[in-house]
Amino acid sequence: MLALFGGSPIRTRPFPSWPVFGKTEEDRLLGTLRSGEWGRLDGHQVEAFERRFAAMHGCRHGVAVVNGTVSLRIALLAAGIQAEDEVIVPPYTFLSTASAVVEANAIPVFADIDLDTFNLDPKAVEAAITARTRAIIPVHFAGQPADMDALQRLADAHGLLLLEDAAHAHGASHGARAVGSLGQIASFSFQSSKNLTAGEGGIITTNDEALAAASRSIQNCGRTEGGIWYEHHVISGNYRLGEFQGAVLNGQLDRLEEQTATRDANGTCLARQLQSLPGVLPQRRSPQCTRHAYHLFMLRLNPIEFGASRDAVLSALEAEGIPCSAGYGFSLPAQPLFRNKAFGPYLPGVRDRLDYGRARCPNSDLVCTQSIWLEHSLLLGTREDMNEIAAAFEKIHHYRDQLGGR
Ligand SMILES: Cc1ncc(COP(=O)(O)O)c(C=O)c1O
Repeated sequence: MLALFGGSPIRTRPFPSWPVFGKTEEDRLLGTLRSGEWGRLDGHQVEAFERRFAAMHGCRHGVAVVNGTVSLRIALLAAGIQAEDEVIVPPYTFLSTASAVVEANAIPVFADIDLDTFNLDPKAVEAAITARTRAIIPVHFAGQPADMDALQRLADAHGLLLLEDAAHAHGASHGARAVGSLGQIASFSFQSSKNLTAGEGGIITTNDEALAAASRSIQNCGRTEGGIWYEHHVISGNYRLGEFQGAVLNGQLDRLEEQTATRDANGTCLARQLQSLPGVLPQRRSPQCTRHAYHLFMLRLNPIEFGASRDAVLSALEAEGIPCSAGYGFSLPAQPLFRNKAFGPYLPGVRDRLDYGRARCPNSDLVCTQSIWLEHSLLLGTREDMNEIAAAFEKIHHYRDQLGGR
């Protein structure tokens, strides 16, 4: 009997919690507190973290900022994106990938995702390119690198900026290269739910000197490296990350390599176990994905083939002791923000001719109704944990008739 109807749950122990922290973070935080060097301009935690994180991601430069939304906007501004330029983004992502474009006074244009990898479909991107397109922002969704080879070919052919939104993909790799170094510039987030976190935070990574210098200037009130303190060169603000967050991030970074290897091994094992179940379609791993960060373990549940609705399966999984969620309820073009073009001071010249109600993203729309997300901390446990998650899915499939029409 399903636990939802009084049967014994498959899992009664909790999964690993998040964040993971200990003496490393405590020592670094206390050291920072006692040093009195609490700001980015005073201490060395953020500076050290920028160097370490950039190097781990194959980059010469890292510019830490207050969050992963600001980092996207700064990257766009640093690259010279101008008012009313078009920037292609996926419809299946967190709001920021598209809202940062509006905040750069540019126009987000949605291109659909691939139904199996949940990443931008290069064919849809190609179809969305116009004479006004200046950039593409692929999101490495759930931690799997996007199809960067095909997107790079498009970017080269049309002279476009390729800005990676790597908010889900710390430590992932594509072929022999780390995410963060695949496009011209990249953005990561360190918000609480992310695979590397200080509660809030973000970073821009790049190998391009000019993009790095422009990002650093925008992060620091438009100042220039070595310039006069009260001389400000571009419209900007204070987006500097503080030293307490730098201290925590340095501690977290010591753990990232091992945690990423564990998530990748467990995620791969779980996907293998689940794919034999009818109607259960785990995110397809592309051959170029040499390391998946598994920020999410994500799958699509086809209700006809499985024999029960996605929402009924979510309730049944929770009851079996497997924490899970549906993810985004609808694609970004359907967000009130885009439907109503509630852009405030941005895009005044073109707002009237934009109509996001006409955006067609059928794959993204379908994924919103069929997706099941498991958070990355579930993958930090043991192989036995993966077996129990798989067993819960198998049990629910076996007793799917009990869910009769739910
Ligand atoms: C894909 C994606 N991009 C950008 C962000 C924005 O990051 P932040 O919350 O640090 O602003 C997030 C997450 O929150 C995200 O999931």
